[in-house]
Amino acid sequence: MSEIMRVDKFISSQLNGVSRKDAKALCRKGEVLVNGNVIKNGDVKITAGKDVVAVQGEEIAYKKYVYIMLNKPQGYVCSTHDGKSPTVLELVPPELFREGLFPAGRLDKDTEGFVLLTDDGELAHKMLSPKSHVEKKYYVELENPVQEYYISEFETGMEIDGGDVCLPARIEFVPENEKACYVYISEGMYHQVKRMFDKLSNKVVFLKRVKIGGLALEPNLAIGQCLELLHKDVEKIL
Ligand code: URA
Repeated sequence: MSEIMRVDKFISSQLNGVSRKDAKALCRKGEVLVNGNVIKNGDVKITAGKDVVAVQGEEIAYKKYVYIMLNKPQGYVCSTHDGKSPTVLELVPPELFREGLFPAGRLDKDTEGFVLLTDDGELAHKMLSPKSHVEKKYYVELENPVQEYYISEFETGMEIDGGDVCLPARIEFVPENEKACYVYISEGMYHQVKRMFDKLSNKVVFLKRVKIGGLALEPNLAIGQCLELLHKDVEKIL
């Protein structure tokens, strides 16, 4: 995909911590090359993805968007700003950080697991649209044992507190732990999994998202760590 833009904009969009003003200054100092030629003016137009731009001798590997798998710890909120609590963006290492990054979808502050961070609004919109029915898989630990009848309750489409009616969902038992299960839901209502179990007079004591669509949380990704994804990985979500 190629896009025509000013070289200063291109540089600041690709290099974390480099503002448009910084990029213009780098050009003036002769530290920017486009296809091997020194460019002294930041307003020169380039074709992103085609022209080779180098800053201080380093070629920029153009990425239109970034996609990051985060294994969210408890205690972080899924938003870009929060007056009180740390946000998931604070867990992104500087080499992956970019202006415009946001969490595509929300987990509660006390929920762990897979959060996709991106600056690709179109993909996030598709992923989150109720029409897309992207299935999310959660690992759940409960206060009391999982009951056999939960299967049919989930399949039917439960009415939860507040009158919301859930789409049919699935539950899978964990043989080695009678108080644990996996739940699959294709929507994302506020506190949905917790409210579904409340309705069954049980209580979620631990919740972790382990899969979004066809993309599973990387098993070796430590809690609080980020992993950059390729576009082809992200396509598995949809
Ligand atoms: N359901 C919940 O109750 N909480 C979450 O964070 C995600 C799904």
